[in-house]
Amino acid sequence: MLKPKIEDALNAQLNEEQTAAQEYLAMTAWFEQRNLRGFASFMRAQAEEERQHALKIFDHIFDRSGHVQLKSIAEPASDFDSPRAVFEAAYEREKGNTKSIHALYRLAGENDDYATQAMLQWFITEQVEEERWAEEAVGLLDVAADNRSALLMLDARYGAKAAEEGA
Ligand code: FEO
Repeated sequence: MLKPKIEDALNAQLNEEQTAAQEYLAMTAWFEQRNLRGFASFMRAQAEEERQHALKIFDHIFDRSGHVQLKSIAEPASDFDSPRAVFEAAYEREKGNTKSIHALYRLAGENDDYATQAMLQWFITEQVEEERWAEEAVGLLDVAADNRSALLMLDARYGAKAAEEGA
């Protein structure tokens, strides 16, 4: 049985994951509208991953005989100055998510909830990967700067990455 404090924190993290999914879908739309379809596919895959993260927490709450409480999802930003700005926003989102996962892990430990800590181990490892791709994309877009050919090459590369991961 989940302690109410942990149940609330898990429901809040479930909402964080759904918010991330919504944000990545808005980023997908931004790229689609500019015919940068490789980046769009990559972001679509991220949105789907976030949905899976939300479901992992959803299942854990039920596995522990808790109550899922779905909350409203804030409207995502949909206006960005550049592809770099999109990935910068993604990087900020991931850093925020890492912080909230770590806080949740700490809270679970303080409440002797070892099962929740075990479930969160997966997220802790995943967040290392999540921050890495976002930071790398910002770095690559810095290198590309205003060079349109480099941007198109990166678009193709991210499209291939999404296809590989989806295969
Ligand atoms: Fe669910 Fe991108 O962290």
